Amino acid sequence: MYRIVRMDRLAPTITRFAIEAPFIARKRQAGNFVMIRIAAGGERIPLTIADSDAETITLIVQAVGKTTKELCSMKAGDMLLDVVGPLGNPTPIHRHGTVVCIGGGVGTAELYPIAKALRDAGNKVMTIIGGRSRELVILEEEMRACSDHVFITTDDGSYCRKGIVTDPLKEILDSGKTIGAVFAIGPLPMMKAVANVTRPYNVHTLVSLNTIMVDGTGMCGGCRVTVDHQMKFACVDGPEFDAHQVDFDELMMRNRTYVDLERLSDEKHQCKLVAMAEGAAQ
Ligand code: FAD
Ligand code: FES
Ligand code: MG
Repeated sequence: MYRIVRMDRLAPTITRFAIEAPFIARKRQAGNFVMIRIAAGGERIPLTIADSDAETITLIVQAVGKTTKELCSMKAGDMLLDVVGPLGNPTPIHRHGTVVCIGGGVGTAELYPIAKALRDAGNKVMTIIGGRSRELVILEEEMRACSDHVFITTDDGSYCRKGIVTDPLKEILDSGKTIGAVFAIGPLPMMKAVANVTRPYNVHTLVSLNTIMVDGTGMCGGCRVTVDHQMKFACVDGPEFDAHQVDFDELMMRNRTYVDLERLSDEKHQCKLVAMAEGAAQ
């Protein structure tokens, strides 16, 4: 069992947890993730290790469906049944010169350890954070601490510049500055758009793929993705891949395979919560 030591809300739908997991904390590197299971009978889901200290790992979770909503309703002191990791290949950290790190929504949490590692390796880090609205712009302070420049965009213009992350990216590329590499993590359409922007400039671009994962160890095939016309398993071959080689359209289609079942299971979960709340009120 793994104890939730601390938790705080970064946004109404985004929660940061410190989980007691010293063996994982000591081994993890930027880009690694864990598979967690809240309780017996529950599903396993992958979450990126956003940070760590000697005893705990930090997970930052957006409540989007049944399991993440259940997790985000837990409190400090509660226990998780399984936390398996560190999984996935660590991000290759090299000295590229100047790099651009792009995080969209909760993807900024997944990007944070990578930006930090790139800065520690001596790179100049230009960060672009995007969110649909102000409340979904997370970790601004943390990203500023490991970046040389930070650009922020919101789709609705409620904070900083109105627009999308590819707007400042295009300007940086057009300015003639030499960019050694681009790292982008966020929703699949965002990562696809970033790949389309950097392709004509021939800038090496890495994306971390949020495929559906079941075991996280290369056995089930659930995380299949086509990269450079070859089948890869994101959990053991990734989760990062060359953005210019990823078949994003196929991946977006695969990620929607279980949408109806996911909605159903989320609705059942909500009904259970309402019934519990009504029971407690009587
Ligand atoms: P559901 O309603 O079941 O699903 C909502 C959507 O999430 C689905 O349509 C599908 O696109 C995706 N999804 C569903 N089940 C899975 C699954 N087993 N594995 C992966 N995706 C799934 N989210 C965070 O908030 N923070 C993170 O740090 C983070 N890191 C991730 C790292 C990796 C390597 C991957 C692959 C995904 C990561 N995710 C992260 C996404 C997170 O795993 C999903 O949001 C979560 O599994 C959704 O579960 P649910 O039951 O709440 O939602
Ligand atoms: Fe099962 Fe990758 S999650 S093979
Ligand atoms: Mg689910």
